[in-house]
Amino acid sequence: MPAMERKIDILGLNLHYGAFHALKQVTMPVASRQITALIGPSGCGKSTLLRALNRMNDLIPGVRVTGTVTLDGHNIYAPDTDVCELRKRVGMVFQRPNPFPLSVWDNVAFGLRVAGRKQDDAFHDRIEHSLRAAWLWDQVQDKLHRSALELPLDQQQRLCVARLIAIEPEVILMDEPCSALDPISTAKIEELMLELKKAYTIAIVTHNMQQAARISDRSGYMLLGDMVEFGPTAALFTSPKDLRTQDYISGRYG
Ligand SMILES: Nc1ncnc2c1ncn2[C@@H]1O[C@H](COP(=O)(O)OP(=O)(O)OP(=O)(O)O)[C@@H](O)[C@H]1O
Ligand SMILES: [Mg+2]
Repeated sequence: MPAMERKIDILGLNLHYGAFHALKQVTMPVASRQITALIGPSGCGKSTLLRALNRMNDLIPGVRVTGTVTLDGHNIYAPDTDVCELRKRVGMVFQRPNPFPLSVWDNVAFGLRVAGRKQDDAFHDRIEHSLRAAWLWDQVQDKLHRSALELPLDQQQRLCVARLIAIEPEVILMDEPCSALDPISTAKIEELMLELKKAYTIAIVTHNMQQAARISDRSGYMLLGDMVEFGPTAALFTSPKDLRTQDYISGRYG
C-alpha cells in the first residue's frame, strides 16, 4: 500500500498487561478513508489493538507498550504527543451505546462546549450537520431536548457517532458497534459506516465475519496476540494464505 494511503501505520507493536504479552510484534497499516476490520476469536487482542490506536490503554495500570504507531507519519507514542489532541483526532465508538444522560442536543454539543466553542449559529449548524451525518436528524429533530437515553439502541449508537463527528475526528474506531443491536439496526449502522468512510478512516473490531466481509476493505486476522494475516478483505476471505486463517474462516476454529 503506498505510504500516502496509510493513515495509520502500526510497526512492531507489543503490549503487555503486567506480565501478560497481549500484542506481539503487530505490524499493520490502516488505510485512509477505508474500513479496516480486525477479526479473531475472543481474547486474541482485537480490542487491545484498537485501543492502542488512540492510547486508550494508557488508562489501564500496568500497561507497557513498545513499537510504534504513526498517525500521518508521527509516532503517537512519542513522549511529546498531546494525548487529548490525539483522542480528538482518533475517536472511539464502543460496544454498548454510551450516550451521556443528557438531552440529544447536549450530547452532541458536549465536545464543542469542552473545546470552548461559542454558542453561535455555527455551533448550531455543526450540531445539525453532525446529526445528519450520523443519519439521525430526521428521527430526532422533534426531540432534541429529550433525554438521549429514551432513544432506541441503534439511534443511541448513531448519536455516539454524531457526538464524535461534532469534534471533527479523522479516524473513527469502533469496537463491535453492532453487538448490542438487532439485525435491522445492524444493517443501518453498516450502511452508515459505508457512508462515513468517504470522509473518515474507520477501524472496526467485529466478531461477525460476515460483517467484516460485507463492509471492510482490508482485514486482519489475530490469534493469541499475533497478527496472523492481513490483506484485502476479499483475498483474506476467499484465498487465505495462512492455515490458521483458513481454519478460522471455514469455521473450524473460534
Ligand atoms: N485490563 C486488562 N488487564 C489484564 N489483561 C487484559 C486486560 N484487558 C484485556 N486483557 C487480556 O488481553 C487479552 C486480549 O484481550 P482483548 O480484550 O483485547 O481481546 P478481544 O480480542 O477484544 O476479545 P473479545 O472478542 O472477547 O472482546 C485477553 O487475554 C485478555 O484477558
Ligand atoms: Mg474485545
